[in-house]
Amino acid sequence: KVFFFCCLPLLFFILVNTTICNSYTNGSFCTESKECLEYELVCKTDEYEVRHYSPTRWVSTDAEAYFMGVGAAMAFRRLFQYITGSNEGGVQMEMTAPVLVKIPEQTRMWEPAVYTLNFPLPAAYQDKPPTPTNDKLYFTEMPEMDVYVRSYGGWMLSVTSRLHAHLLTKELERVRASYNCSYHYGVGYDSPLKLLNRHNEVWYVAEGEPVCTATPSPHRKETVEK
Ligand SMILES: *[C@@H]1O[C@H](CO)[C@@H](O)[C@H](O)[C@H]1NC(C)=O
Ligand SMILES: *[C@@H]1O[C@H](CO)[C@@H](O)[C@H](O)[C@H]1NC(C)=O
Repeated sequence: KVFFFCCLPLLFFILVNTTICNSYTNGSFCTESKECLEYELVCKTDEYEVRHYSPTRWVSTDAEAYFMGVGAAMAFRRLFQYITGSNEGGVQMEMTAPVLVKIPEQTRMWEPAVYTLNFPLPAAYQDKPPTPTNDKLYFTEMPEMDVYVRSYGGWMLSVTSRLHAHLLTKELERVRASYNCSYHYGVGYDSPLKLLNRHNEVWYVAEGEPVCTATPSPHRKETVEK
């Protein structure tokens, strides 16, 4: 039973994502068969990118868990059911990338944290998404935003995600960029079955005019890769 509930979403994730989601075209990790959230690249340094996202609507759900992986798996299952027909009208939607996990900055080892998992609604359902039948789901209106993005390969485990979040904040502090430091997003594009060239990101939401300094930092290049 435990296996079933914990691993079923991952299994779906594997099936869905391997068929639809390989990499990105609007940029370089989204194939044509699949919809990915579009953005404008504002600027890029050796350490991060700044992207501009237009306002979008997402379907979201919260999970309280000690480990991001567990929370994400439970939440993922609910969202996956929504797009595969658990909604009023039984509408089936294509999975759209990326999956965003909102991660609070302050969590303690001995207390569960609340993680919010978000799927972008496909363009065709942005304006009138079908009403979820599960009351744990809700819609999030993501405002227009600039985000600082650090990309990394390998697996989006909570430890690696936090490490890259930490490296990104170090750099943002170095260049004196303002960002909302109460949370970050763990951003996933690939299924667990994909072994090579996996693409994950960490996002911090910029506050005010984004900072893009071209000055590379001399010491920390490629400190952590994969
Ligand atoms: C992604 O596509 C949109 C619209 O086609 C375009 O405005 C944007 O610049 C593209 N982003 C990148 C990084 O190429
Ligand atoms: C930062 O994000 C938190 C959580 O979403 C929000 O409550 C807060 O208002 C944001 N801070 C700023 C300065 O926008």
